[in-house]
Amino acid sequence: MFQINDNYQKLPGSYLFSTIAKKVAAYTEANPDRKLIRLGIGDVTQPLAPAIIEAMHKAVDEMAAAETFRGYAPDLGYEFLRNAIAENDYKARGCDIGADEIFVSDGAKSDSANIQEIFAQDNRIAVCDPVYPVYVDSNVMAGRTGTYNPDTQMWSDVIYMPCTKENGFVPDFPKEAPDMIYLCLPNNPTGTTVTKAQLQAWVDYANKVGAVIIYDGAYEAYISESDVAHTIYECEGARTCAIELKSFSKNAGFTGVRLGYAVVPKELKCGEVSLHGMWARRHGTKFNGAPYIIQRAGEAVYSDAGKAQLKDQVAYYMKNATAIKEGLQAAGYEVFGGVNAPYIWLKTPGHMTSWEFFDYLLAQANVVGTPGSGFGPSGEGYFRLTAFGSYENTLAALERIKSL
Ligand code: MLT
Repeated sequence: MFQINDNYQKLPGSYLFSTIAKKVAAYTEANPDRKLIRLGIGDVTQPLAPAIIEAMHKAVDEMAAAETFRGYAPDLGYEFLRNAIAENDYKARGCDIGADEIFVSDGAKSDSANIQEIFAQDNRIAVCDPVYPVYVDSNVMAGRTGTYNPDTQMWSDVIYMPCTKENGFVPDFPKEAPDMIYLCLPNNPTGTTVTKAQLQAWVDYANKVGAVIIYDGAYEAYISESDVAHTIYECEGARTCAIELKSFSKNAGFTGVRLGYAVVPKELKCGEVSLHGMWARRHGTKFNGAPYIIQRAGEAVYSDAGKAQLKDQVAYYMKNATAIKEGLQAAGYEVFGGVNAPYIWLKTPGHMTSWEFFDYLLAQANVVGTPGSGFGPSGEGYFRLTAFGSYENTLAALERIKSL
């Protein structure tokens, strides 16, 4: 008789956003006349920028002719895209990252779930609390997290680094040295971030204790403050301790298109073993490359027209973020984030739990958000709203919340 991977049985409930989707579907079925405004999952709402659409059309036409048709993409991604990434995301920022250190993928969610595969099972992971659930759940599936305590909502073998208003949402170095440290900056879900000097301290710490940092930079395009690093490789020593994951979902609206990349510097080694070589082996074996049409779309992100159009798109979402932040503050809410990230993190009013506030907002305002406790125990008493809605819906949602 076959056996299953028992670690899956340890996962409590369903994936956070699936749980929310089920709750919302049940509410809609029971109340078909209600018009919901969805500010829950961080999914974009604006159409792809014209420069991207144009590049996709052109690539589709190429696929229609034998001379220009493309089959499997190269293992690491097409050179035209890796060169554009190296040039714009790294060289232009004074960072020494070569095109051959970039691995194109179908998105940062997959990369952030898959990257743990190249590490030993008894490695200790450290995560911010609250945290993007994929980091923890993928390590649960791999059997790296020990046992789950439903009372504390914590795993015995995970090192939690609380990020709350008390520490300004900046994690402290853990008492016990971890092997793998997940950092998402600017942060999902809190919408806050750290300064470049604070990030440098994490790089120094990782190099000192021999840990690897898995750095998720999905929200980099939303940075507005000058003392915030746009990539971890702006920090000295990051090439020997950090893997960076980037997404095209939030800066270019690719949530439904799927494109991302991982940077694994060649100096990142465990003894004599290069992680770059391991990730290349993994990529070659388990992945057949992002589609040519999508990689051409990704290249257009770095064209002059693409850059200008996407700057406007980011500004559009950040206008929503400012409206939510200021509107909620004026209504008496305690609000965080929304300056360098498209997420607003608020304290739930009147000691409501995160899920109580979720239900209250859904039923009374017909607004969908995300309960903070879904991201980890330190998220209890907080709630996340995204700035990725349309401006009109964002304002309408605010009016509804203010009138509660
Ligand atoms: C979120 O809402 O946290 C994100 O959109 C989820 C994701 O990027 O996978």
